[in-house]
Amino acid sequence: MSKEIHRQILPLFSRPIFIIKGYTLNEEEMAAVQKERNSVNDNAGKNYTSQDSYIFNKPEFKNLATWIKKELDIYFYDCLQFNQSTQLRFSQSWLNYNPKGTFHHVHTHPNSIVSGVYFIKGDQQPILFERFENDHLFGNIIPEVDKYNYYNCGSWKVTNKPGYLLLFPSSVKHGVVMNEATEERISLSFNTFVTGTIGKNRGLTELKI
Ligand SMILES: [Fe+2]
Repeated sequence: MSKEIHRQILPLFSRPIFIIKGYTLNEEEMAAVQKERNSVNDNAGKNYTSQDSYIFNKPEFKNLATWIKKELDIYFYDCLQFNQSTQLRFSQSWLNYNPKGTFHHVHTHPNSIVSGVYFIKGDQQPILFERFENDHLFGNIIPEVDKYNYYNCGSWKVTNKPGYLLLFPSSVKHGVVMNEATEERISLSFNTFVTGTIGKNRGLTELKI
């Protein structure tokens, strides 16, 4: 009788990145995106962001915001399995404009829980998610790798195609390389924060906000 061997691997303590496709901007929404291009701030990486950083409050972006909120809840409750006593609400939301020769430096989103980016148009350079220094599997001991996977990689490229939404923990480092194309790259980003109750009354960790 042969002995069967069962092997299992658990992706413990991972940082799940949620990738969704399912919303396409209509003509009016695209026109609203272009209209915001007239009032922008310039940033590190020489890219531009809309001066309005509460773009989801505008009626033109209400449908998109509603769709993203639905996906945010699927990520938070279905994938991550948090309790419904804690809710996420949008904090700031803004548009990013990257003309040729500009990029998004590697950064995190402070004062936010889950962040997201919805890609609208332009060159399809991937978003690069990066580990923090010394956050490798064995600290700062990094053996040579034959084939990169989620366990041994230092960074990972994720699709950046029109109509795709990415949701990720705001503390994860990410950036986008320089736009080499002539067409401007446009995306929409947002942050969230908790509302409701976090923690437990009996554990003396309760926080109502
Ligand atoms: Fe970002």
